Amino acid sequence: MIKYSQKNTRIETERLILRQPTKADISDVVRNLSDLEVSRWLLVVPFPYARKDALWYIRHCAEKIKKKPQTDYSYWIELKESGEVIGGIGLSNIKFDQGKGTVGYWLGTRHHKKGYGSEALEALIDLAFKRLKLRRLEAGVLVGNPSSGVLLEKYGFKLEGLKRKAVIPKATGKISDEYFYGLLRQEYSRPRRK
Ligand SMILES: CC(C)(COP(=O)(O)OP(=O)(O)OC[C@H]1O[C@@H](n2cnc3c(N)ncnc32)[C@H](O)[C@@H]1OP(=O)(O)O)[C@@H](O)C(=O)NCCC(=O)NCCS
Repeated sequence: MIKYSQKNTRIETERLILRQPTKADISDVVRNLSDLEVSRWLLVVPFPYARKDALWYIRHCAEKIKKKPQTDYSYWIELKESGEVIGGIGLSNIKFDQGKGTVGYWLGTRHHKKGYGSEALEALIDLAFKRLKLRRLEAGVLVGNPSSGVLLEKYGFKLEGLKRKAVIPKATGKISDEYFYGLLRQEYSRPRRK
């Protein structure tokens, strides 16, 4: 059962709380995100990732949430059992006139392969399709990323193409090819839990 706050600023799933970033979380975020195995797959996250970068992000989110209509829903992911912030997920670049938005996410490596990515993405897809009434979601995945495409395909995202030498991730500075994925609302069905 996924619970959403009225303005979608907080989302609760079985094991996770997706919520607004706060200064109290900075140590957790720096520990989990200052890791090249994570940031090499993200576009705008520097390596090393410092407290000042987290502070910038917190201010950036506070600004974005004030925008009307809100076109960006960004969350840090808290693990309920420990209270640790273990990652982040967001729905960004929402264009309500086009009915679409872009998903992005990361988790600290210690927390990979425990189903948390699936749990958080499921909540974000429901937010997009059921609550915000979008009709299409998009995601970009750097070529070579071992896990993100698997996660997207689990939820019905289809590989729609490859953009050649399209992006330069901040952490590595390497020009990279990028796959693009898309999911239409009518294609989405929640996979069965194992
Ligand atoms: C992408 C990411 C969030 C996935 O999170 P996760 O919690 O490990 O994912 P889950 O445990 O929910 O696994 C989802 C599916 O992917 C599979 N998977 C996860 N990691 C995998 C890997 N390294 N290789 C192959 N399959 C993998 C799982 O087996 C699972 O499939 P299943 O449910 O059919 O068994 C995580 O790997 C990550 O943060 N990576 C670094 C940052 C990143 O790549 N962000 C995305 C940028 S586009």
